[in-house]
Amino acid sequence: MLERTAPMPADHAGQMDAIYRYQRHIYNASRKYYLLGRDRLIRDLDAGPDISVLEVGCGTGRNLIAAARRWPGARLHGFDISRAMLNTAQASVARQGLAQRVALAKADATDFERQHLWGQQSFDRIFLSYTLSMIPGWELALDEAARALSPGGSIHIVDFGQQEGLPAFWRDLLFAWLRRFDVSPRGDLRPVLEDLAVRHCLTLTFTPLYRGYAWSAVLTKD
Ligand SMILES: C[S@@+](CC[C@H](N)C(=O)[O-])C[C@H]1O[C@@H](n2cnc3c(N)ncnc32)[C@H](O)[C@@H]1O
Repeated sequence: MLERTAPMPADHAGQMDAIYRYQRHIYNASRKYYLLGRDRLIRDLDAGPDISVLEVGCGTGRNLIAAARRWPGARLHGFDISRAMLNTAQASVARQGLAQRVALAKADATDFERQHLWGQQSFDRIFLSYTLSMIPGWELALDEAARALSPGGSIHIVDFGQQEGLPAFWRDLLFAWLRRFDVSPRGDLRPVLEDLAVRHCLTLTFTPLYRGYAWSAVLTKD
């Protein structure tokens, strides 16, 4: 059992609401320029008919809506800790006529009760898109995702990399800016995923994207 390494702030949900209360209105338009690799992740889900998909930290629902279009037979679920973000997600999903296909809930990625929330213990595809970098107990969130994965399923991750192929000034500027939004790119993502793969008998593929701007990972379960 993994222990929490970073204390969860007493009101992490409130902190996320404070960040996104106004940002959520410009989120989709502004983030498309710098949350790179999300559409690639959605394409790689390979979620055919009746495959169950769960997004951890679904934000405005942008990815779930794109996944619903890309994978018309899939059953989609998502949750977020921020009520403000969920309100936007619910409105967007309804506007797109997808309310019957996308089930949304409020929950914490480090401890979510899937049977209670969705009436099922496991999912065929679980994805975390630019979410680990905002979760204080992100290693626990990965453990929760691994526990919620069905046999034959896969976990898909995209998040900020360490900018290893880009100039140092770029990394300093980007990371300083991200700190304003409580975003901490996880420099030890790869070893943590390697450890997760060993403990849960998963196979890891780890791919830096755009010269290390983003990191992408897929964990598969036999
Ligand atoms: C940068 S946004 C990414 C949203 C979406 N996944 C995307 O790719 O556009 C990060 C999201 O993670 C959510 N989040 C942060 N900590 C969380 C936690 N402990 N449990 C669930 N969601 C969390 C935030 O509220 C926010 O909506």
